[in-house]
Amino acid sequence: MGTLKKRIMMNSGCGIPAAGFGTWQSEPEKTAASVCKAIECGFRHIDTASLYLNEAEVGEGVRMALEKTGLSREEIFVTTKLWNTDRGYGRTLRAFEASLNALGLDYIDLYLIHWPAVPAQYECWRQLNAETWKAMEKLVDDGLVRSIGVSNFMPYHLEPLMESARIIPAVNQIEYHPGWIQPECVDFCRSHGMVVEAWSPLAGGDALKCATLVEMASRYGCSVSQLVLNWVASNGIIPLSKSVTPSRIEENSRSFDFELSDEDRAAISSLKGVGGKCRLPDTVTY
Ligand SMILES: NC(=O)c1ccc[n+]([C@@H]2O[C@H](COP(=O)([O-])OP(=O)(O)OC[C@H]3O[C@@H](n4cnc5c(N)ncnc54)[C@H](OP(=O)(O)O)[C@@H]3O)[C@@H](O)[C@H]2O)c1
Repeated sequence: MGTLKKRIMMNSGCGIPAAGFGTWQSEPEKTAASVCKAIECGFRHIDTASLYLNEAEVGEGVRMALEKTGLSREEIFVTTKLWNTDRGYGRTLRAFEASLNALGLDYIDLYLIHWPAVPAQYECWRQLNAETWKAMEKLVDDGLVRSIGVSNFMPYHLEPLMESARIIPAVNQIEYHPGWIQPECVDFCRSHGMVVEAWSPLAGGDALKCATLVEMASRYGCSVSQLVLNWVASNGIIPLSKSVTPSRIEENSRSFDFELSDEDRAAISSLKGVGGKCRLPDTVTY
């Protein structure tokens, strides 16, 4: 439970809960209830995006949970993301307003550029991301967003962005799970003071079938999901697990009350071919 509530300090001066709850592909009719359940189970950090078409349901789930638990808005950390086709100064401001309205909130804790989205059709991606970032900085200045960051940015996407940035990204949310740990990107982010978040920490469910992980989980007396989420957090990376199944949400919330040996942590880090998307960001051009 400690990890769910523990906050990691970001370069923005705000704290971010050390584990979060994802909502990609959550069916709209299940989203509000699953977000509410996650918060009741101790999650304090909810991840959505305009692309997921469920910001309204995520906002509804947060409000349901605040009413049920008596928590205040400040105790919940909400992230949403700007979609590729909404990049550019004016478009970003308009897309943000739409996200804020859909969520029904007064401010967002963390706003991310979803993908660097480089050519084919975005030949001027450096300039587009720089203009987008200026708008994100304005949202911080206006008090509508507490922290800003990126997602799926590799060092060669981050370097040009940081050349014109006034605010260094607080977070980079990347694909990270057994078999896909992107060490160069993680090292680069850390050396520039960015917190790393793990999307698809369970490799979208594929990690749960890995024989090495199944055997190791039985030794610890935990589920494979708990083992993997514990491993991500123990590497200092924020796992964003997704589930719409109440028993799994509860199970995942109990992932952080045991300690992996250094040997087992290293063994998980060296696994290969576990599944997941293993997506190269430059292949996402839509
Ligand atoms: N920035 C990006 O580009 C990006 C990309 C992808 C994802 N994300 C974020 O990262 C979050 C997590 O990624 P993800 O949704 O791809 O995958 P994930 O959390 O790695 O896996 C989710 C899948 O595992 C199942 N699952 C969860 N807990 C389980 C358990 N204890 N036992 C058995 N099955 C379990 C879920 O099923 P049920 O839901 O049916 O229970 C779902 O099918 C997303 O929701 C989203 O917020 C961001």
